[in-house]
Amino acid sequence: MKGIILAGGEGNRLKPLTEVTNKHLLPIYNQPMIYYPLQTLLKAGVNDILVVSGSKHAGMFLQLLGEGDKFGCTIHYRVQEHAAGIAHALSLTRNFVGNENCAVILGDNIYEDDLSKEIHDFDGKEGAHIFLKELDDANRFGVAELDGDKVLGIEEKPKHPKSNYAVTGLYLYDSDVFDVIAGLNPSRRGEYEITDVNNAYIKKGNLTASVLQKRWTDAGTFESLYRANRIARDLNTFKK
Ligand code: G1P
Repeated sequence: MKGIILAGGEGNRLKPLTEVTNKHLLPIYNQPMIYYPLQTLLKAGVNDILVVSGSKHAGMFLQLLGEGDKFGCTIHYRVQEHAAGIAHALSLTRNFVGNENCAVILGDNIYEDDLSKEIHDFDGKEGAHIFLKELDDANRFGVAELDGDKVLGIEEKPKHPKSNYAVTGLYLYDSDVFDVIAGLNPSRRGEYEITDVNNAYIKKGNLTASVLQKRWTDAGTFESLYRANRIARDLNTFKK
C-alpha cells in the first residue's frame, strides 16, 4: 500500500499566516501540521510515501522531512505546478502508485482515531473506502447521503446537506483511481474534485465507508486551526 500526502494549495483562508510559508508547515501544537497525517499513515504501516506540494514551498518540505529516515519511512516528492484540485494532485502520483492500492490523506487533516485496521484491511481490495465524521457543520465539507451504512452519493459543500456526515480527508483507492480521474471534468470552480472521484466509485457500487468515533478536524481556517491545536495537544504524537 502506497501513501500519498497532498500538501498543495494556496492556504488562502489562513492568510496572512500562509503569506510566506505553506499551510501544511504551520505549527499545530508542538509539531508542523504535516507530521499528523504522516503519523496517521505510519501508524498503519504505510511507509512508502509521496508528498505532493506546490512548487513555491517544495524545498521546505524536503528540508523538513528529507528522505524520511528519521521517521522510519521513505519519502518521495512531486510538485503540482498549478493548484487544480485534489483529484488533479492525486493524478500526479500515478507512476508512484503503479498497480498497488493507495492511502491518500490531505495534509491538514488530523485524526484522533487509529485507522490502522481499516487501512490494513483495504490492502489488495478493489474499490474505494472513505471515512465519515458526524458533525454539526458538515456542510463545510463533502457530505454523504446515507441509507444505513451505504453511501448513496456525496455532495461538495451543499447548502442543504442530506446528512450530518462529513467526508473527511483520508481516502483508500485501488489503482483504478487514475482512470477514474482521467474521465473527470473540472467542476464549476475549475478544479478536479475528489468528491467526483468518490461519486464515480459509488456509481460503480464500489465504495465503502467507516464512521470515525473520536475527534477529527481539518486545519484550513482559523477556527479549525485552533481546534486542530487542541486535538494535537491531547494526541501527544511524535515525542522526539
Ligand atoms: C476538501 C474536500 C472535501 C473534504 C475536505 C476534508 O475540501 O473537497 O470533500 O470534506 O477536504 O478536509 P477543502 O478543505 O479542500 O475545501
